[in-house]
Amino acid sequence: MIDETLKSLAIRAMDHSYSPYSKKQVGAAIRLSNGKIYTGCNIENSSYGGTVCAERVAVWKAVSEEGPGIEITEVAVATDADPPWSPCGLCRQVINEFVAKSCHVHLVNKTGTVKTHTHHELLPHGFDRSALERS
Ligand code: THU
Repeated sequence: MIDETLKSLAIRAMDHSYSPYSKKQVGAAIRLSNGKIYTGCNIENSSYGGTVCAERVAVWKAVSEEGPGIEITEVAVATDADPPWSPCGLCRQVINEFVAKSCHVHLVNKTGTVKTHTHHELLPHGFDRSALERS
């Protein structure tokens, strides 16, 4: 179950979205094993390819403020969509780099829909550093 703090922070992060091209506001909030929460919004670019998703902005903020040892224990992604959007493949891979042993990903929208998955349900058989260390 998602707590109201993480959910409302993800929804509030939508307000800072820079999305003049898609007109889709996305907000994300991630909770770390040290209890801190970082938020992010999608930031688009006229080159399109320079666009960054809300989830990755939240992860970059957390790493740059807390260092590379962060462990993500919970993620909330907020949109106006119904059903709510789930993280794109690239964001799943970036979350995977810093994911804690157990991590729930909540997909939420302003009308109150919440769908919860585990990170490993969203990214089964993910690529990680263990493959590099084995080869
Ligand atoms: N977007 C996110 O912020 N997160 C996702 O997981 C999916 C897509 C953003 C990127 C772009 O600004 C807009 O949504 C449309 O793709």
